[in-house]
Order: sequence, then structure tokens, then C-alpha cells
Amino acid sequence: MNQAAFHSYLASGVLKFPEKADPQQLFDLRFNSNITLIQHLFFELYPEEKHLKEFGKLQQLLSDLFDKRPDHLRLIDLQRMAEGNWYQDQRLVGMQLYVDRFNKDLKGLKAKLSYLEDLGINLIHLMPVTTRPEGENDGGYAVNSYTEVDPRYGTRADLIHLIKAMHKKQMHIMLDFVVNHTSDEFPWAKKAAAGNKKYQRYYYTYPDREIPDAFEKSLPEVFPESAPGNFTYNEEMKKWVMTVFNNYQWDLNYSNPEVFMEMLRNLVALANIGVDVVRFDALAFLWKKIGTISQNLPEAHMVISLFRLCLQVIAPGVILLAEAIVAPNNIIKYFGQGIFKGNECELAYNATLMALLWNSIATKKTLLLYKNLKDLPSKPPEGAWLNYIRCHDDIGLGFDDRYIYEVGWDATEHRKFLLDYYTQKLEWSPSFGQLFMYNPRTGDGRITGSAASLLGLEKGLKTKNEKFVDQAIDKIVMLHGIILSFGGIPMLYAGDEIGTLNDYSYLNEKDKRDDSRWLNRPIHDWEASKARYQQGSIPSRVFQQIKHLIDIRREHEVFADRNLPVLHEPNNNHVLVFERTDGKNSGILVLCNFHENDQVLDAGWITALGYIKNAMYSDLISGEKRKLNSGLFSIKPYEIFWLEFL
Ligand code: GLC
Repeated sequence: MNQAAFHSYLASGVLKFPEKADPQQLFDLRFNSNITLIQHLFFELYPEEKHLKEFGKLQQLLSDLFDKRPDHLRLIDLQRMAEGNWYQDQRLVGMQLYVDRFNKDLKGLKAKLSYLEDLGINLIHLMPVTTRPEGENDGGYAVNSYTEVDPRYGTRADLIHLIKAMHKKQMHIMLDFVVNHTSDEFPWAKKAAAGNKKYQRYYYTYPDREIPDAFEKSLPEVFPESAPGNFTYNEEMKKWVMTVFNNYQWDLNYSNPEVFMEMLRNLVALANIGVDVVRFDALAFLWKKIGTISQNLPEAHMVISLFRLCLQVIAPGVILLAEAIVAPNNIIKYFGQGIFKGNECELAYNATLMALLWNSIATKKTLLLYKNLKDLPSKPPEGAWLNYIRCHDDIGLGFDDRYIYEVGWDATEHRKFLLDYYTQKLEWSPSFGQLFMYNPRTGDGRITGSAASLLGLEKGLKTKNEKFVDQAIDKIVMLHGIILSFGGIPMLYAGDEIGTLNDYSYLNEKDKRDDSRWLNRPIHDWEASKARYQQGSIPSRVFQQIKHLIDIRREHEVFADRNLPVLHEPNNNHVLVFERTDGKNSGILVLCNFHENDQVLDAGWITALGYIKNAMYSDLISGEKRKLNSGLFSIKPYEIFWLEFL
């Protein structure tokens, strides 16, 4: 039982009628039952001998911040505590979008909520909307403020209105908390640059190269092409400052407890405008230690758990998403471990599944996918994956070499093949992507491009190759069918619902041209969206099929994240089969074909999976009811089935 469940249990009597409960009394209950864990984490990070006073401050801060929580949000908190793990509901379907690129500004987005509702979206991840430097700003991930809305998006009042309108429609909102770094224009950074010692301690600042050089020996580079090295010399401050991402993003120093407390204030400010899910950006980087890669360190997990447990005391309805695009065995740790299991982040990006799906598309085989997924430790019951195909970032090939060798391939050659397949180096490949952060010395690189272009739609249209076009549409639908049925929260990427192609306009913009991730950050094509009901058009073929899948998902409770997908490995290397079941008899079997030719499965193998009462099944997607005869079950290229056995 994690702390959230523990509170709900302790307060179960009162929570029967959340409207009548006394929020202060429940705050006290949460405070008292969390404080020992909070104290433990705090003193692990900030030794008691030196930081007793700060711990006193933190206790006061929890209470002060709760006082600021608006009443209507306090009520939502209690309703969610009563409901328990609300984010595991199958009716949740998300979409990530850039406000300005979607429909100009926050008001523009509000005007288009019905478009998203039409598709079945009820959770929106808005990319950063706070103030940022003019010019390069990493798409807003260099923050000048955690609370002020950048005028190009509107005002803070617009944001609050949008959130209220969304909540009225039972829609949820996710915003980023850029927890690892601020921009070099952030007030703390400016004060530090001007010589203020207190604020210099908010960052990692050094008078000479001694410590930076010691760090550099083991620190990898995140953007080796555009931002090599991990430190930047600041002329004004006459010091080096740690900048793991871009040279204008200064890493916050969490070994200073003041930084933790200030950032907790910023986190609560975000929660208090009504944010339901907070995306903890780049959280793997929160703790730095010489001699390590300074990612995924145990102290980073402690900092996150500390945020979690404090936020839980103040705003228990708000949940955290881990943006840790790291190796599979490291991602899972962001759900929490040991006594902190279930007390770190409720959600984590399933970057492993995402990268393996792209691997399966290129190889037309599911071998590596099975190998990796079968070995992945299970998430705790109160955690949920955020499943996605594309997002605003690149696709890293973050799976283990060991498994590549185990399936009989050479890891270096295989990675090279994947990069070539997706970045137009193979004449026969339908894919139209580009390289991101390619290092010619090591051959390491990542992939960028829109889902539709990576799946062949762009090449198909350009070369008038109808087969590529049809297959690309089938692939888009199949991949969405997988993330919509795999469990957790599916997060679509704006534009993918209408098959949006790469956007090359970034090449003409000085502040963007060095960052090919902009290839997949298109301006929304509203003409194409209008064509979503124009029979036969590409947008309609994509939109309507995805909408149909979402509709089915919402109606079937077995898709809720209360059970894990069970992988079944058939005797066919091109097919993926998994089952969602409540352990009784309402299972759904998902089958899909990654090959461009028809594939067959032995129908006897399907029947033998065990829970089939008689061999009648219905495919939820096509609506067809059939008898599973002995013999062969055939799956067309890039076809997906959601089979319910009757
Ligand atoms: C996350 C964001 C990415 C950004 C980085 C630095 O990984 O997704 O877009 O560049 O953090 O903030």
C-alpha cells in the first residue's frame, strides 16, 4: 500500500462524503502520517547536524502552502482520494500539443476543445507556456519563470479560464515542471551572475576548471552537436556554471535545501492553478556526483520522493509523470523502490515500448520487443505507464545491446541499420526521417520526424506510391491501437490524428535550425482537420479509425490500468500478441502484424491460451463475430485485432 492508499484507508469513513469532510483535519492526518518519511528523506539528503533548522522551515512551509490551496481544488483532492488511482481509468486518453502551433494561443486552444473532445481526448499536455528567453529557448524548456505566462500565449487569467473550462468538460490538464534547470535569465541566475553568493549556490558554479574537468571525465553529453560539454563560462560572474542541456539552461543545485524548498513553492503554485498531472521534466538529472554519469542517482530518486510526499500532504489529487527517457531498468525505478515503492511518480513514459515499436516497424519483427518487455520488472500496482508513439523529442534507441545480441544480431550494425532505415539512407525504406545528434565518431544517433513521415506517408505521397500511402495509414492506426490497449494512459501527439507530415520550416528559422526535433513540431493544419469527415481523404482515414479505437477503449473496463498486459509469444516472428484480462473471463486479446505480407497463427494456439469458453470471438474493432475454427488465423499487413471471446 503506498502513502496515497494509506491515507484513503485511514480516512475512509470521512471520505465517503468528501463535500462534508473537513479539509484541515485531513491535511493534519496526511501531515502526521507522511512526516516521518519526509524527515527520513530530508536528512538523508541534507544531514541533520547541519540542517535541522531547514527541516523546521519545511514543516512550516507545508502548512503555509496548504493554506494557499483553493477550496475547489481541495475538494477535488478529496474526491480523488476517495476514488483511488483515478489516473488508471480506461476513459483517460491524452494528447500533447504546443499551444501556439495548435491554434495560436490559450484562447485559441479553448476554442478548439470540442475538436479534441470529438476525437475522445480528455487529458491535454500543454507544452511550456511560461516566459522564456527571446531567441533560443529549447521550446520553452528554458524557463524565465515558473508562474508567469508568456504574452505570446496570453495571460495567466487565460490559462486559468482554460483550465476551468476543461474541468467543466471533465477534461484534465498536464503541465511541465522544468525541475532540473532554469534559463540563464531566471531571476536567481541573474542575481548569481551579478555576484550574489546565495544565488550562486542555487546552481553549480565554479571559479576555475578544476571541478568541471573532474565532472567532465564521466559526464555524457545530452546535445553533443549543438551544446558540447556540460559547463559554460559566464563572463559577468567570471565563473563556470553547469549546463548539462543547452548553455542557456543552468542546472539547479539540489544539494542545497533552499533550492528544494523554493522549487516546492513553484511546484505548488503550478498545482494551485488546477493542474492535474505535473510532468517532471528531465528528472533523471536532479543529482550530480563527480565520477558518475549524474543520471538516475539514488539521491535524485530521494529528491523526487520528497517532492511527492510533500505534494501529497498539500495537494494529494495531483500526480507526477516521470520524464526519464533512460534505459528500461532505470525507468521503472521512477515508480519508487523499497519503502518508497508507489511513492515517487505515479506515471512514467514507456520509452521502452515506444522505441521497440519503431524497431519492430523497421525490422518487421517482434523478437526484440518480446525479449525486452518480458524481462522488464513489473510496475507497482499504483503506477501507470504513459504509452506513446511520438512526442516533441527525438526517438532514442534506448534498448539494451545484450538483447540485440541474444536475437542473433550485431548491436552496432543493428543500430546503424535502424538509423539508416529511418533517415533516408536505404532506397527501399518508406521512411522519411532525419538524424538527431549524430556522432560520426561513435556512430550513435537518434531519429526525428513525424509519425506519418517515419511510417512512409510522405514518401508515398511524393512518389505517388499508393501502397506506401495505404500501409502508412495502416501502420499509424496499428501503432495507436497498441498504445490504446496496452494499459496506462495513451498519449497521442497533436497532428498524428490526421497523419501530419514533417515540417521543414524550422530550417528557415535561425533559433531552430540546429535542432531537428522541430521537424515534428508542426503548425496544426486546420484544413486537414476539417477534412476529417470527408470520406476517403487521408485525414479522415486516420482520424476516424483512431477515434473508433478510442471509443471502444472507453467502453471496455478491461483496458483500465488495473491489470498488466500479458505477453504471449506466438510461433510467428512478425506478430505481437498480448492479452488484457481482469483474471476472470472478460479478457481481450490484441493481435497485430508488423509485416507487409499476410501472416498466420495457429488457431489452436490461440484457443489454448486458456480463457476461451467456446471458440466464438468478436473483433471489437471491425465488429465481426466469428468462430475460431481449427486451422489458421490470418492477419493482414499492419492489421490489428482486439478479440473478445464470447
Ligand atoms: C526534456 C524535454 C526536452 C528538453 C529537455 C531539457 O527532455 O522533453 O524537450 O530539451 O527536457 O529541458
